[in-house]
Amino acid sequence: MTDSPRDVNLRSALIVGAGQGIGLEFVKQFLSTNRADRLYATYRKPKSDLVEIADPRLRCLPMDITDETQIADAIAEIQTETSALHYVINCVGILHDSIMQPEKSLRQINAENLLRYFQINSVGGVLLAKQVQPLLKHRDRALFATISAKVGSIGDNHLGGWYGYRASKAALNMLMRTTAIEYKRTCPRAIVVTLHPGTTDTELSRPFQRNVPPEKLFSCDRTVKQLLTVLDGLQERDSGEFFSWDGSRLPW
Ligand SMILES: NC(=O)c1ccc[n+]([C@@H]2O[C@H](COP(=O)([O-])OP(=O)(O)OC[C@H]3O[C@@H](n4cnc5c(N)ncnc54)[C@H](OP(=O)(O)O)[C@@H]3O)[C@@H](O)[C@H]2O)c1
Repeated sequence: MTDSPRDVNLRSALIVGAGQGIGLEFVKQFLSTNRADRLYATYRKPKSDLVEIADPRLRCLPMDITDETQIADAIAEIQTETSALHYVINCVGILHDSIMQPEKSLRQINAENLLRYFQINSVGGVLLAKQVQPLLKHRDRALFATISAKVGSIGDNHLGGWYGYRASKAALNMLMRTTAIEYKRTCPRAIVVTLHPGTTDTELSRPFQRNVPPEKLFSCDRTVKQLLTVLDGLQERDSGEFFSWDGSRLPW
């Protein structure tokens, strides 16, 4: 529970899935507002806008969240420089890619694709929670936030469709809620939350933006400012909860 002498008073943050979209914007806003003295950011594809950012406070590390060894290696690298993280923000997620589209009906259900949704959107988050735990066992306030999605709310599902994405985000919510309960014992100052960012203009939402009214389609800049406001207002009693971009609680 102690900081090593070299990092006392230094604030460190880790943004996971920072190669593009919301994760990349978190990196930009952490740097522009000087929110952390040391910022670690992970990317999957080495060719990303992230690695173009030249800032002595930033260290970029490779991490495919489906590979626990890569998560462990990144955490080990961070541990060579610090024993404490004050923010961990996991922005990894998949909705579609060149081989996978969200299912519109049961006819499109495919076991391999379903498992891929779970592997990236759910399992990755809890492997991260497992590996990063030693860096959250300190005496300062810490935040472990994972970007989920409102469509992962079971109670709020009135439209159907998107089986794999919805189910994998619901599983993520449960895994983070369970992590919050264990962290209360092991890292009592760490607040664990899942967050709905609102529909945000990124690669992930691009094919599905047609019916979104312009005022409901947020820029990454707006989304990250809103999520940071939510994070700044959290209390320890909020750990284990699922919040929307405006700070309201979402039903499970
Ligand atoms: N945009 C929205 O409207 C919206 C709405 C609700 C929830 N969300 C959630 O917000 C989060 C961020 O999404 P976004 O909108 O910023 O989309 P995005 O621009 O597509 O970013 C997704 C990020 O996840 C990373 N990623 C995907 N698979 C990975 C893996 N196996 N290992 C490591 N990283 C991986 C991507 O890395 P690469 O750059 O290497 O592909 C990328 O950095 C996701 O969890 C998403 O589900 C978004």
